[in-house]
Amino acid sequence: MKAATALPVTELKHKLETRQARIGIVGMGYVGLPLALLFSGEGFRVTGFDIAADKVATLNAGRSYIVRILPEAVVEAQKAGFRATADYAEIAAMDAVVICVPTPLDEHHQPDLSYVTGTVEAIAPHIHEGQLIVLESTTYPGTTEEVVAPLLESGNAHGLRVARGADEAGVHVAFSPEREDPGNDTVDRRDIPKVVGGCGRAASEMAAALYGTIFRRVVPVSSPAVAEMTKLLENIYRCVNIALVNELKQLCLRMGIDIHEVIDAAKTKPFGFQAFYPGPGLGGHCIPIDPFYLSWKAREFDFRTRFIELAGEVNTAMPYFVLDQLAAALNERAKNFKGSKVLVLGVAYKRDIDDLRESPALTIIELLRKKGAEVAYNDPYFPTVGRGRKYDLNMTSAPLDHLEEYDAVLIVTDHSSYDYAKIVREAQLVIDTRNATRGIDSPKIVRC
Ligand SMILES: NC(=O)c1ccc[n+]([C@@H]2O[C@H](COP(=O)([O-])OP(=O)(O)OC[C@H]3O[C@@H](n4cnc5c(N)ncnc54)[C@H](O)[C@@H]3O)[C@@H](O)[C@H]2O)c1
Repeated sequence: MKAATALPVTELKHKLETRQARIGIVGMGYVGLPLALLFSGEGFRVTGFDIAADKVATLNAGRSYIVRILPEAVVEAQKAGFRATADYAEIAAMDAVVICVPTPLDEHHQPDLSYVTGTVEAIAPHIHEGQLIVLESTTYPGTTEEVVAPLLESGNAHGLRVARGADEAGVHVAFSPEREDPGNDTVDRRDIPKVVGGCGRAASEMAAALYGTIFRRVVPVSSPAVAEMTKLLENIYRCVNIALVNELKQLCLRMGIDIHEVIDAAKTKPFGFQAFYPGPGLGGHCIPIDPFYLSWKAREFDFRTRFIELAGEVNTAMPYFVLDQLAAALNERAKNFKGSKVLVLGVAYKRDIDDLRESPALTIIELLRKKGAEVAYNDPYFPTVGRGRKYDLNMTSAPLDHLEEYDAVLIVTDHSSYDYAKIVREAQLVIDTRNATRGIDSPKIVRC
C-alpha cells in the first residue's frame, strides 16, 4: 500500500499537469473506448480494461470494432502508451480509474447492476490510497454511495476506506455521467460539459481535475447522487418528449395534419420549445432503459414516476402502431401479412450508427415474422444480425436491388447513405416511419 498523503488532490493535479498520471478505463465499449482515446490524445498513458478477450486482442493489434473509430486512432493512441488488458492486477498502477460498463435492465425490467458490481469487486483488491475511482455508467441515484463505495471498502484487504472528509486518507470515489450522442458530429466531444460529483470534496476536485484535461468545461455538483440524477433527468426529458410527439403524430394522422410540418413551424419559436421527432419506437442503450432505473428506485420511497410509466407505454406501443399502418396499406392493395415480402430498411437504432441495442427494428422484424410475413432487411452498418439480448434473428443484409419484388419497403432507420428517391421509384409500397421521404411526392408512400 502507498504511504498516506494528506494532499491527494495536489498530487493528482501535478501528475495530470505533467501527464505522468496513469489512467485506467474499465469497459472498452461505445463510451469507454472513445474516452480512452481522448485521454491518449492529450498525451496520457492509458490502459483499457475489458473482460472480452476479442476486444482486448483487437485493440492491441491496432484495430477497432466500432465503425466511427478508425484503426488509425487506436494506433495513434498506442504511440502514447495505450494498451488493453483483461488483468485487473494492473489497476494498482493507475492513478485514476474510470468505469464504463453496461447497466441494462433484467428480464423483470429492473436494474441489472451485475456488470458494475462485478467490476468493482474485481478492482477492489488492487485499489490504493490516493487513487481516484469514477463511475460513468448510467444508474439510479445512490449507486455510487450505496453500492460502489461499500464494495470497494469490503473488497480490499488493507482496510482502505472511501475518503469523505477534506484531508481524510483513503480511496476517492466520484460519479460522472457520460453524455455522448452517437452519430452527432455537430458538437465536439470536448465541448460537452462534464458533470462530476464526488463522495467528498477531495474526490470532486480530483474528478474535476481529471476531466478538465479533456473537457473544456467541468460542472461540479454537491454529491454523486446529484450527478446520477442529472443524467436521468436528461434522458427522461427526452423519453417523455419523444412519447409526446409519438402520441401527437397518431392524432395528426387521423386529422390529416403533417406532424413534421407542425414541428418545423413550432421550432421557429426562439424560446420555450425544443424539437423532438416521432419514430417507430425507442432504441439505444439509454432512452428505453435509463428511466426505469429511476422508477425502480422511486418505489423504495413509496413514489410512482407516472410520467416515466406513461412515456414508456406510448413509446413501447410504437412498433405495433407501425405494424397496424403496414397492415392497412397492404390491405388497400388486397394483401395481408401472411406470405407478403417486406424489406426493413435500417436496423440500427438510429441514423448512421453501428449500434443495434434495443432497436425497434428488431421488434418489428420479430412481429412481422410472427404474422407470417417473409422479412428481409438492409443496413450498411450490419452485414448480419445474429443473436441479441432478446432476439435471435439470424439474418443477412439483403442487397438493395429488385425492390419491386417486395410487397412493401419499411423505412425504420433513415441512414443518410440511402437514395430515397430511387427507393420510392423502384418499390411497390414505401412505409416511412422517419419522414425520410420528405419532399418526394408519390402515391406509393405511406408516412406514419
Ligand atoms: N453508448 C452510449 O451512447 C451511452 C451514452 C451515455 C451513457 N452510456 C452509459 O455508459 C455505460 C456503458 O455503455 P456502453 O454503450 O459503452 O456499453 P458497451 O456494451 O458498448 O461497452 C461496455 C464494455 O464493458 C465491458 N465489460 C463488461 N463487464 C466488464 C467487467 N466486469 N470488466 C471489464 N469490462 C467489462 C464489455 O465487454 C464492453 O466492452 C452504460 O451505463 C450506458 O448506459 C452509454
